[in-house]
Formats: sequence, C-alpha cells, structure tokens
Amino acid sequence: MNRTVEPLRAPLRGTIGVPGDKSISHRTLLLAAIADGESRIEGLLRSHDVKATRGCLAALGVDIAEAGDAVAVRGAGVRGLRRPASPLDCVRSGTTMRLLAGLLAGRPFASLLSGDSQLLGRPMARVVDPLTRMGARIELEDGCGPLLIHGTALHGAVHRLPIASAQVKSALLLAGLTAEGPTTVTEPGPSRDHTERMLGAMGAGVSIDGRTIRIEPASRLDAIDTAVPGDPSSAAFWLVAGTIVPGSRLTISGVGINPTRTGLIDVLRAMGASIGIEGERQVANEPVADLTVEACDLHGVTVEGETVVRMIDEFPVLAVAATQADGETVIRNAGELRRKESDRIGAVVAALRRLGARIEEHRDGFVVEGATPLRGGSVDGCEDHRLVMALAVAAMVADGPVTIEGAERAEDSYPGFFEEMAQGRRVT
Ligand code: S3P
Repeated sequence: MNRTVEPLRAPLRGTIGVPGDKSISHRTLLLAAIADGESRIEGLLRSHDVKATRGCLAALGVDIAEAGDAVAVRGAGVRGLRRPASPLDCVRSGTTMRLLAGLLAGRPFASLLSGDSQLLGRPMARVVDPLTRMGARIELEDGCGPLLIHGTALHGAVHRLPIASAQVKSALLLAGLTAEGPTTVTEPGPSRDHTERMLGAMGAGVSIDGRTIRIEPASRLDAIDTAVPGDPSSAAFWLVAGTIVPGSRLTISGVGINPTRTGLIDVLRAMGASIGIEGERQVANEPVADLTVEACDLHGVTVEGETVVRMIDEFPVLAVAATQADGETVIRNAGELRRKESDRIGAVVAALRRLGARIEEHRDGFVVEGATPLRGGSVDGCEDHRLVMALAVAAMVADGPVTIEGAERAEDSYPGFFEEMAQGRRVT
C-alpha cells in the first residue's frame, strides 16, 4: 500500500504516547509462557511482529488471552511447552525466530521455524552456531531459515559473541535455562539488556559482570504482573520530527530510557537538539520518562563504536535528521545495518537521494552532507517498517508530497503510526 504524506507546514505541538516496546513485548510473552502461574501484561505492543510471537506460543500450547486492556498468559512452566502440530510461522520477525530458536533447542521435541521470504533471507547461523556448541541440533539452509530444530538435551557453554546482538545473547540465555550447568555470554558491546532484567525479576539465577552474563539452569520462573514501557525506537520518529519541524514543541510520555536504547537521544543532543528528560520512574524493572523535544538547528557529528549498538534501529531516522543538520554527519562501524529488515545502508541512501539529500554510501555506514532542502517524490520503503516511518518524517519537511511504497509495513512495530501523524497535524 502506498501512502502520500504532505509537507507539514505547521509546528508539531502537544503530548503523545507511543505503543509498547517491541523488544520487551516479545520477551515478556516468551518468559511468561514458561513461568509458573498466570502473568498479566499491560501495554503489550499489538504489532504484526509481536503477534507472530504470540501465535507461535499458542501453537506451543500456551494459553494467552485478552484480559481487558491487558493480556493474561498462563505459563506452561520452564519445561512445559508442547510439541507444535505444524511449522511455527515467525512471519517477518527476526526477534521471534532467533529467540524461539534458543527457547526450543533444548526441548524434547522437534519444531520447524519458518516465515516469509524477507525473514528467510536474514542470517541465522549467528544464533545456530553458538546453540550447536551447547549440543543443539538445528538444520538451516545456506545460513538462513527455515530452522529445523531437532530438540536435544543441552549443556551450558562459555560464549564470546563476535557481534553485539541482543537477539543472539537472549537466545543463548533462554537455551541456558534448560541446559545442564551454567551458560555465560560475553558480548563485545552494550546490546539491549531487557532479557537479563526480566529473567532477574522472575527469579532466575542470572548475574552480570561487565559485559558477561551468566545464567543458571532454572526449575521454575515466577509469573509476573508487568507493564510494557513506550518504545524508544518508536519515540525516535517524534524526537526527530519535533527537532526538524520548525516551531515544534512535543512531549512524548512514558518512553523507556534504558541506557542500552538511548543512543539516539545522546546523538541528537550532540547535534544541538533540545531534548528534556523528565519524570523518571521505574516500570517493570525498566527506567521510563517523559521526553520533551523542541525544534532546533542541528550540526553534523560522527557516530561510531558503542553508540551504534545503543541506537541500532534508529539510523534511518537519524539519516533524516542529518539531512537538516549543517555540515557532515558520519556514520561508521554500522555494517550490521545491512542485515536488518532491509539493507538499511543501501536503502536509506537510495531513498533519501531521491528526495534530494546529499548522502554517500560506505561499506559500514554513510555520510550525509547538510543542510539540504528535501523535495517531494516517490520512494520505496523496501518492506522495512523503520525506513517507511523515517521517510514519513522526511516528508514532513519536504517541499512537496512524498509517496512511500509499502507503507503498511509500519504496522510491524508501530500500529497506527500514520493515524498518529495525521493527529499530530490537528494538535498544531
Ligand atoms: C532486537 C535486537 C536488535 C534490533 C532488533 C530487536 C531485540 O537486533 O535491531 O530490532 O529485540 O533483541 P540484533 O540483536 O540483531 O542486533
């Protein structure tokens, strides 16, 4: 489906909320599914990706029901999942496939993890290889899914990850729950730590020493009543829009500010943005706050190293901000972006160039020369939710309408994004 976004000729003003965090939603469902007793989850993200996880868990015998605004999950116990009657459809969700690979590798039954063609083109050896070192037997095709998991007894292992990936780390921690002996995972950079936080809150034997996480096998996890904070990766679109649309002042309430996720805030501030963080509080073992952004002139910066890990999903929208910043914005050490829902380096460069940006592709990043007025036109969202929404933000400051192909992909992580944009105009 195409969406045409008209330039926004008035400031963004008011207060908005964003939907629940995608990473935390997946993990809450997966861990509640193997807890003892019933968990209640408020604010669960109702997006396509999270529905994929929910569907797979239902096929594994987990009872998940609506309970008013919340979702109630009747846990099957750490060892209680049931053999699925058919392949588990992860749709387009990499998090679903990788975390389930870890959860299912040590079960006494076989399972097949499949998905659509985009997901089946994404790298899975990064999770299968370390699971194999724990005794797992998983067949894959040319390093990709579908994954045929034979289900075998696992033993703990010491893992040193070559890339900072929260999905791989989490898969290994989930496998470690049913392995014999402890499992440790050392990661090269600060990937999101929601799994560790949640495992701790549910009574698992998890300990952290610098970049090393150790998990003990568990005989039970406690059910939890929890609330999912607003997704900082969804708030990212409003942080950039509020910064680059002249005269804006926007508050985004109830956003997760876990330090492993706030790289974009740090980078925008370094570029000169005005972002206030107020009302800091803890929600379900995660820090949450209200963010207020005011329009500002920006200047270019260099983004590299650990900051890249702390904002791995925010580069499409950062690229849009960079087109409106004076001078050069350099992104490096970000080769992982080529392995996301699209090749996010190639796709962002191609789309923003069509809108008149001066942006150059590099092997592990890109360079934007600004500030450049953007023009209207037609751009390909490349089946990538975060690219689609970043282009919608670009459209707000373009001088003519921007038609985004494949705009329905926004629903993968942010249901109602385009409706919220339309509302944004009304509150101006
Ligand atoms: C995620 C981890 C990141 C991120 C993805 C969600 C997660 O992927 O890009 O959108 O929920 O663990 P990697 O672990 O591959 O870096």
